[in-house]
Amino acid sequence: MKATLTVDKAYRLGSIDERIYGSFIEHLGRAVYTGIFEPEHDTADEQGFRKDIMALIRRLNIPLIRYPGGNFVSGYRWTDGIGPKENRPVRLDYAWKCTEPNQFGIDEFADWCKKAGTDGMIAVNLGTGTPQGAADLVEYCNHPSGTYWSDLRIANGHREPHNFKTWCLGNEMDGPWQTCAKTAEEYGRIANEAAKMMKWVDPSIEVVACGSSSMEMPTFPEWDRKVLELSYDNVDFLSMHRYYGFRGNVNDFLASYVDLDRFLQAGIAAADYVKAYKRSNKTIKISLDEWNTWYNTYDVNPQQIWTVAPPIHEQIYNVMDALTVGGLLCTILNHADRVKMGCIAQLVNCLAICMTEPNKGAFAQTTYYPFMHASLYGRGEALRSVMDAPKIATKHGDVDAIASAVTLDEENGILTVFAMNMGDTDAEFTVNTHDFGKLVAKEHIVLDGELTACNTFEQPENVLPHEGKLPIVEGEKATVILGKYSWNVLRFAV
Ligand code: AHR
Repeated sequence: MKATLTVDKAYRLGSIDERIYGSFIEHLGRAVYTGIFEPEHDTADEQGFRKDIMALIRRLNIPLIRYPGGNFVSGYRWTDGIGPKENRPVRLDYAWKCTEPNQFGIDEFADWCKKAGTDGMIAVNLGTGTPQGAADLVEYCNHPSGTYWSDLRIANGHREPHNFKTWCLGNEMDGPWQTCAKTAEEYGRIANEAAKMMKWVDPSIEVVACGSSSMEMPTFPEWDRKVLELSYDNVDFLSMHRYYGFRGNVNDFLASYVDLDRFLQAGIAAADYVKAYKRSNKTIKISLDEWNTWYNTYDVNPQQIWTVAPPIHEQIYNVMDALTVGGLLCTILNHADRVKMGCIAQLVNCLAICMTEPNKGAFAQTTYYPFMHASLYGRGEALRSVMDAPKIATKHGDVDAIASAVTLDEENGILTVFAMNMGDTDAEFTVNTHDFGKLVAKEHIVLDGELTACNTFEQPENVLPHEGKLPIVEGEKATVILGKYSWNVLRFAV
């Protein structure tokens, strides 16, 4: 097959907010305990943080990590996780039917973030929690000193504020599975009041209101409209979540990038409806703060209910997942004008791009690589591009056989094309650029292989990206072969 992508230097979509390359660590299964925190591990530092997984995470250059949930946060008392560890209570976690020992809390997370070279995006509890509890947490984390909560942080060993700048107003509050789920009216009111109070404490923060937890919710997209109508002036982002399952049809799954495009368009439309209704000049940004593929996983094993950190949702990802994730990253980049935050869910062990074994090693899943490529190279500006490719019939309709996105890093003079060939044949792919001058092909990175191939503890490097043939460049045109079922990163000096 043949395909052409046309790119014009003048057609800018918007600057890429680096926070689209965020991730997520929830108190869920083994994400925290035996994931990032395992004091008995050979590589643990003086705070019990595993250095092996830290090294894998640092390679990703992740700007933001959402914490501590997820469903977990809706029953979480953040005060349980501060102060001397021997005094911290052990609690039941209703969300995942586990026991939470509270040996890792907000202060440990702040320290861990510093070591990992990232920043926290903190979710407050608006399930069982209150706006006052949320404002207190902002005060504990961000207020310099001289008040009850800020002085308590100092007494707990943190003279400098944590200064978390991004805050989620609860999690998936429309979902019946959520501890203290709410109607749109109930949630919109409490989110608005919490946002006001949190911003009184620290006016520099940005806050994210829960949108619909998926497109399948019967209340979608009315929930989004109602919540924003009640909170528009005080919130900055609308949260959206989307996971994709493989249900036996490869084309349907690989074409998830088209579904995500529709979902994002719907969220943007709901936000802009409220903008028009309010006659507002303010534009709500989108925080896609949970996205990934998710299937073939299990909740807590009934034998392990109410235990500490049992394995839950430990999906092993294969090449097909990596391709799907690559397609989803293209869609996120193609909405860079409105999607200003995103979190691949999650980072360690649960639905994760990296895995650890208690007392043993860590490895990067197949999905780690497209995420890393986008995070490292997809910076700067997103460009609008036009794809001319054969179509593939899927449950999402007839879709382009190649998903793509284009970014321009003007500072370093690099044009990057991300392309996922979901076809079962190789593609002769031409990038036809305008106004860039002569292109110089620098690099072609490929991830491909048997669709079911994956990395495991036994074979951690079974699937790795490799160098592909460089494109043949003629002036402003470059032609290259994209192998069947492959993820490709083409980098040009411009
Ligand atoms: O990421 C796993 C779970 O998925 C999160 O806790 C929840 O927000 C979503 O339903």
